[in-house]
Amino acid sequence: MIEKSDFPEARAAERIVDPALSEEDSDLELSLRPKFLHEYIGQESVKANMSVYIEAAKSRKETLDHVLLYGPPGLGKTTLARIIANEMGVNIKTVTGPAIEKTGDLAALLTGLQTGDVLFIDEIHRLSRQVEEILYSAMEDFVLDIMIGKGPSAQSIRVDLNKFTLIGATTRAGQITKPLRDRFGIVMRLEPYTEQQLTQIIQRSAVLLAVPCERDGAEELARRSRGTPRIANRMLKRASDFALVMGDGRLTREMADIALNSQEIDKLGLDSLDRRMLEMIIKGYGGGPVGLETLAAALGEESVTLEDVCEPFLMQLGFLSRTPRGRCATDLAYKHLGILRDGQQRLD
Ligand code: ADE
Repeated sequence: MIEKSDFPEARAAERIVDPALSEEDSDLELSLRPKFLHEYIGQESVKANMSVYIEAAKSRKETLDHVLLYGPPGLGKTTLARIIANEMGVNIKTVTGPAIEKTGDLAALLTGLQTGDVLFIDEIHRLSRQVEEILYSAMEDFVLDIMIGKGPSAQSIRVDLNKFTLIGATTRAGQITKPLRDRFGIVMRLEPYTEQQLTQIIQRSAVLLAVPCERDGAEELARRSRGTPRIANRMLKRASDFALVMGDGRLTREMADIALNSQEIDKLGLDSLDRRMLEMIIKGYGGGPVGLETLAAALGEESVTLEDVCEPFLMQLGFLSRTPRGRCATDLAYKHLGILRDGQQRLD
């Protein structure tokens, strides 16, 4: 049976701070996406290293090594993959791991590649075992070994492939099997962006979208976009709507504040689900530890949403700790929510 959790995009939906990609984001990102490394803001060490590998491959007239990009959602893995292909001057085909259902699907993708082309597989940790095994020889020796038929009449056929670059992206590096991981020559981790970098990204996007944006306004959005350009750009769109309807069209700090408050996003970028999760741990389970599944059931949410969306950010802020016995709210979380350790609400 197909579960809602098979489609992170579907559960993304209404939350403005959800880093998962929605359909509306795809259009927005397409128009804002930088095309070259020099236009890409942040991820300095990734950019510096990548430009060396790209230059070296181009001067040797070789295909770029396979690249694995990992890190939380919304940080620009797809954008980076497109930039790499663009800088190499090759075509890119993109697909998500779960969309490659059968080995034949992968074979069709691989045999369609020209020399040097990039195959980008997003959510590569979700490839099926059979598909992943076919990928090993394709990555290493650029051949496809496919079994046709079943039982005693089964035959293996070998197909030569053009040399290509596989770029894999994952939010869960720990779920990549060792044989797959070992076949990537280049492995890079993307980090959350600083407020300053996000301010720059928002200002760049505002220019592209022709939204007059004051620095204060951009900074307010940056502070509350949990280190994630996708969220920052989404907030920019919403705040520009407020500026147009409730102000004079300029995206000021006040307009940013009104827009984010209307979405119940607080000063640090927590939304109502983040706060409900912390409050449930504190008020429902004495601050923890409480197991993830118990928490998800109590909140009526999917555990993957809590794990992939809320937890990384809450842990980054130091509001949540994970222990072998479950999740715990930290002193900082109590302070942020204005709750005293003994359960009383602070008056200030
Ligand atoms: N839009 C989204 N991510 C970006 C980045 N890192 N640099 C520039 N624009 C972006």
